[in-house]
Amino acid sequence: MKSNIMAALLAVNLSPAFAATNATNSGPVEGVAVEASSASLEASKETPAQRDARMAWWREARYGMFIHWDMSSIAGTEISWSRKGSKPLDIHGDPAGYIEDPAYDNLYNKFNPTNFDAMAWVKLAKAAGMKYLVFTAKHHGGFCMWDTKFTDYSIMHTPFQRDVLKELADACHAEGLRFGIYYSPRDWHHPDYGLADNSKYVSYMDGQLRELLTNYGTVDLLWFDSYGHGDPLNFWHIPETWRLIKNLQPEVVINNRLAALRVKKNPLAVTNNNPAVSRGDFDTPEQRLGKYQDTRLWESCMTVVDAPNGGWSYRPDGKVKPFEETVRMLVSCATGDGNLLLDVGPDATGLIPADQSDCLLKVGEWLKQNGESIYGTRGGPFRPGEYGGTTRKGKTIYVHVIKWPESGPLKFPPLAVKLMNARLLGGGKADATQTEKGLEIAVAVSARQKEVTVVALEFDSEVMKLPAEPLTPETRDKSK
Ligand code: GLC
Repeated sequence: MKSNIMAALLAVNLSPAFAATNATNSGPVEGVAVEASSASLEASKETPAQRDARMAWWREARYGMFIHWDMSSIAGTEISWSRKGSKPLDIHGDPAGYIEDPAYDNLYNKFNPTNFDAMAWVKLAKAAGMKYLVFTAKHHGGFCMWDTKFTDYSIMHTPFQRDVLKELADACHAEGLRFGIYYSPRDWHHPDYGLADNSKYVSYMDGQLRELLTNYGTVDLLWFDSYGHGDPLNFWHIPETWRLIKNLQPEVVINNRLAALRVKKNPLAVTNNNPAVSRGDFDTPEQRLGKYQDTRLWESCMTVVDAPNGGWSYRPDGKVKPFEETVRMLVSCATGDGNLLLDVGPDATGLIPADQSDCLLKVGEWLKQNGESIYGTRGGPFRPGEYGGTTRKGKTIYVHVIKWPESGPLKFPPLAVKLMNARLLGGGKADATQTEKGLEIAVAVSARQKEVTVVALEFDSEVMKLPAEPLTPETRDKSK
């Protein structure tokens, strides 16, 4: 029943009125993806309604935890990227094949995070209001955080010798948190990566994916990073990899980074008959808030820590974002019709540092009061702007106000539904009036919240059928 409602809502939302919006939240993956032409691909057998039903949990979740963690936390330098030695297909001129970085590549011999407690992380994510978790099983540096049979460069060969991924999967399953795996197709540690036609490496990768999708129960989400600058069609066997994944876990949600092709950079892609897979299930703007996009699912991945020159893993030289900024990022994503995947970097002992968890928990508190304006909502009908943005669900529009007008009420264009009631989430009074000219909202200064004030406007009928407001010059576009 629930999925029928979702399907109906989505059908409305994909009407031509919405098609005018642009789908530009694709993230760092360059080029245009080519749709699958092979009927044998499992993904292409899915009807739009089946796809909407499969994606419903993810769309309703709106907020997840990203975790970048491995032995790089000992050095406190950026995961994989701080590794010297060759980064083939990433750094121009670096040779293919493994070139050792004696310091980084031996850190794992000392990795013994005895404070690691999967259940504590999962409980933190839940208390923070997050509905899913995505963990770096293998980052570009090639170190594997699970019991893999394919290499000794894994957590099982550290003093710790515990399958961290398994413990996280079990804790997620026990606690009802959706479980996601990040996997980097790039592998700067593997001797065959980028050599010859790359096929030896691809069979290693496929073998590992088989392990990950066989030994860890339900994997709700696969979060691939993009491949390096190699020829994506002939260097990777993406349709085969895709089929393997879909055969093992047909319901799994997959981001766009394995699927998309660097068409612009690769003339082969447009002439080659080799079928490419679809664009994946969602776009992935990275370290930036996606702009309003309701024609295709998207998720911004952002770090809770600002580290010098960016960074995802434990960085003692970083600074945790203030709560106000963090909660506004979530609001920005939800009002733009997208998700937020917020990254934490646990330390070398296995703890998520208190400054990070404190910020997360504050957002969790905020969500206890304001969660109805985030979970299960869609963006719109009004576009985000300087004032903030709107979300909607059922007969309610939630107006998230970050900046009030200097004087007078906040004004919106007319709507074809009748306003019945206005309330302030968390209590207090909101005044809203509806005339032919539009809607006006006023909240006393004393009743406003510092980070964001949420006004719920209740109407006489469903607000999902309302078309999204057209794009205007004032409409925020943060993607640049
Ligand atoms: C980039 C970085 C990688 C990080 C990822 C997260 O691809 O190379 O380090 O894990 O973004 O989106």
